[in-house]
Order: sequence, then structure tokens, then C-alpha cells
Amino acid sequence: MNIVMNKAEVLKDKPEGSLGFGDYFTDHMFVMDWTPENGWHDQRIVPYAPMMIEPAAMVLHYAQETFEGLKAYRSKDNNIYLFRPEMNARRFINSNRRMCMPEVPEEMFVDAIKAIVKVDASWVPTGEGESLYIRPFMYANQSKLGLEDANSYRFMIVLSPVGAYYPEGVNPTKIYVEDEYTRATVGGTGFVKCGGNYAGSLAAHVKARKMGYTQVLWLDGVHRRYVEEVGTMNVMFLIGDTVVTAPIEGTVLAGVTRDSIMQLIRDFGYKIEERHLDIEELMEYGRSGELKEAWGTGTAAVISPVGELYYKGETVVANEFKTGELTQKLYDTLTGIQWGNEKDPYNWREKVN
Ligand code: COI
Repeated sequence: MNIVMNKAEVLKDKPEGSLGFGDYFTDHMFVMDWTPENGWHDQRIVPYAPMMIEPAAMVLHYAQETFEGLKAYRSKDNNIYLFRPEMNARRFINSNRRMCMPEVPEEMFVDAIKAIVKVDASWVPTGEGESLYIRPFMYANQSKLGLEDANSYRFMIVLSPVGAYYPEGVNPTKIYVEDEYTRATVGGTGFVKCGGNYAGSLAAHVKARKMGYTQVLWLDGVHRRYVEEVGTMNVMFLIGDTVVTAPIEGTVLAGVTRDSIMQLIRDFGYKIEERHLDIEELMEYGRSGELKEAWGTGTAAVISPVGELYYKGETVVANEFKTGELTQKLYDTLTGIQWGNEKDPYNWREKVN
């Protein structure tokens, strides 16, 4: 792939203090365009800047948009690593197929990420728990108001130095179990990483926030009974000595962190069940104390302990609202591999520099 470079003449000052999540952007971005005649073309790295978009661009009306999220990590010995970027590439292909959008070949996707991360390598932060969040995304940019799959698309990558996703950091969060709104049903786009899924989730998110909860736990869209995922992450429960998480059957996002954590859990010797977990059953485990630990997994959220669940007026607490032993071990092992400070027996790391 030939990438034309147009470097920024003036570089930005780097942020100081707490990075938060997604508030700062680096000096450059990657852009390429797609048409049926030319396929993907005009690959370029240009200064990060506002862009022109036609008011009639189809994405603004019919939300034909997909995205991904992964991170670049700086190790103590100053190497920069990606974590299983081919998994993001494959998920992006699946998302784009479902949304009638062109596929970005796996190699092109990973090469574009490496190229932009190399250009903005000085932005990969060095602080504890900090990384460079990578946001590849695609949108329909044909101007047309008739509803159909577009005939021109743009793919871009922007980068953002980040710290912890939640204000709680890696401390336990409070989760609101949503029983009014639903997120996905089989045959829909629940497994797709598309902006529309997240837009539709905001009403529940705002409601939960007003009630003092950090996130929403979604139940299945048909029975409103079976636990699916949390707004920004997959979710797992340690019940007795078994870890339970929702199966990937078309409504839940196939998380890269989810997959990695399931591998670690197996290798730590725990049983793992991917099954439909009834919310009433989960609340009962909470009441009886059999719910030992709960945590979310996601690229942005990493491993985020869940301390409290609220469902229909009742609250149950996991592990006395403290980060559990297994949760901590999973966090330490995963982040040790991601930041390049531990051995990588699974070959999950990919060096950039
Ligand atoms: C991620 O974890 O990478 C996501 O895309 C979730 C998003 C809400 C930040």
C-alpha cells in the first residue's frame, strides 16, 4: 500500500495531567477512499483537522457507519505494541459485511494502523495505565437522500492518548440493569460495531447516569431476561468456581478482550460457561453471596470490576464492592502482556517500532 505523507507543520502541545478518555487527538490521521471503480485508493496521512462533509452525505441521514477500537502500548523498554490487531481487522470485515459496506483487507487495515502509529509514536503515553487509543472508522459519504447502500465510502484512523475509561479508574463500578429499553435481537446488528447501536443505547445510559450508575447492563431483547453485555464492554460473573458470560449468538459484541480473558480464565484452571444467564438467577446469586466477583472486559474499559447491580428496585453487591482476587489477577496478567512487561505466551503482541 502506498501512503502519501503530508506532515503537520506545527505540532500540538501534549496534554498534561490526567488524560481521561478520548478528549485529546494526535497530530495526524489516516484517510483513504473507496469507489466501485477504484476500490480503496488515495491512502494518505494528513494533519489531524476538521473535515468537509456534504450535508447530504448518507451517513448523516441513515447512519451507515462502522468503527473499531484498539490501543498502542509503550513498554518500559520503550517498544510500542499493538494487541491482536488482526482480531479487530476481522471483526471490522464482519461489521462491514452486515452494513453493506466495503471490506478493508486484514493486511491493509493493520498496515494503515502501524503507519499512523509510527508517525505519531511520540503520542503513545508513558504513564501507568495509559495508552494510545486507535479509532479506525468508515462512513458512507455519497450525497443522496434515497435509501440504499452508498457508492462511496471513506475510511479513517484517528488516535487519542488515554487513561482509564471510567472515572472510577479500575475500582468497582455500579451497574444499572436495564429493563425498559433493549439493545439487540437476533438478526439485527447487535454483533456489529456500528455507531447506530451506541446511539440507540444512550437513553438507557442517561437514565442510569441520573440514578448514579456508571453503566447499563443489557438484557436480551426478546424476553428481557437473559444477561447480554454492558454498554461499553462484555461482562463476566464468577459464580462459585465457574465464570459465566453471554454466548456470541448475534446480539453481543465479539470482544477481543473477552476472547483473551476467556483464554486466561481457562489457563488459570477455572471453568467457563458461555450461556444464557437469567437476571433473576443472577440476583439470587447476589443475595446468597454465590456471586463472588463480576467484571467487564473491553478495549477501552480493559478489565473493570463491577461492584453493584441494580435491578427493579433491588441492589446486590459483589465481593463487598471491592475488586476481587480473580478480577485483579486477570487485569494484571492482561495488562502485563499488553504493555509488553510480561511474557506473551499467546503471541498476542505485535511490535510497531
Ligand atoms: C472500545 O472499548 O474500544 C469501544 O469501542 C467502546 C467505546 C464505547 C469506547
